Amino acid sequence: MKLKELESCLQQVDTFEEPKILLEQYPTSAHIAACMLYTIHNTFDDIEAKLVADLGCGCGVLSIGAAMLEAGLCVGFDIDNDALDVFRRNADEFELSNVDLVQCDLCCLKTEDYRHSFDTVIMNPPFGTKHNQGMDMKFLRAAITMAKKAVYSLHKTSTREHIQKKANDWGVKMEVIAELRYDLPASYKFHKKKSVSLNILHTLFQPG
Ligand SMILES: C[S@@+](CC[C@H](N)C(=O)[O-])C[C@H]1O[C@@H](n2cnc3c(N)ncnc32)[C@H](O)[C@@H]1O
Repeated sequence: MKLKELESCLQQVDTFEEPKILLEQYPTSAHIAACMLYTIHNTFDDIEAKLVADLGCGCGVLSIGAAMLEAGLCVGFDIDNDALDVFRRNADEFELSNVDLVQCDLCCLKTEDYRHSFDTVIMNPPFGTKHNQGMDMKFLRAAITMAKKAVYSLHKTSTREHIQKKANDWGVKMEVIAELRYDLPASYKFHKKKSVSLNILHTLFQPG
């Protein structure tokens, strides 16, 4: 599948109906999701026929893209049942049978039960900016435990040094694959501007 084709399919994915600010329910745009997944697939061969987990899957744009790129199975994990309902509808709409869902709070999940259970983990985690400081690192810790080979994640560029330090502490190799601009639409009432633009890093972590 070509990049443009993947992006245009992902534009059809429905997103949060009433996004919950405390859960940082910002959807990944079709453009960013397609670029991220295309690179994971074409450069690293970490999707096709692989068992993939998508942490904080929301309405499923990353899982659905991974399923379209022929993941063996992509399992989405999210705390929010409303988002998972939209995910289910999206998966039905695209007639995908290689996706599954787990409703859970990733902060309480016994990730040891999933140690090295997935070939690849993909995620756009909460950045930990809304009364939930450190949430990005909790997601990353869970992802690194669950992945056998690789974790692909989005992080704010401003947190780069902090993440690098954590990766060093955990004995994990970290590589920035791309720097991207993330345009958050003004989906919440408190947003004064039409959209807010953030610099983010598409990052690869390889557990030792
Ligand atoms: C930035 S959104 C990304 C959504 C989706 N992956 C995407 O790319 O569009 C973060 C997601 O993490 C979920 N989330 C937040 N806190 C969580 C927690 N403690 N456990 C599991 N999921 C959580 C939210 O419900 C939301 O769907």
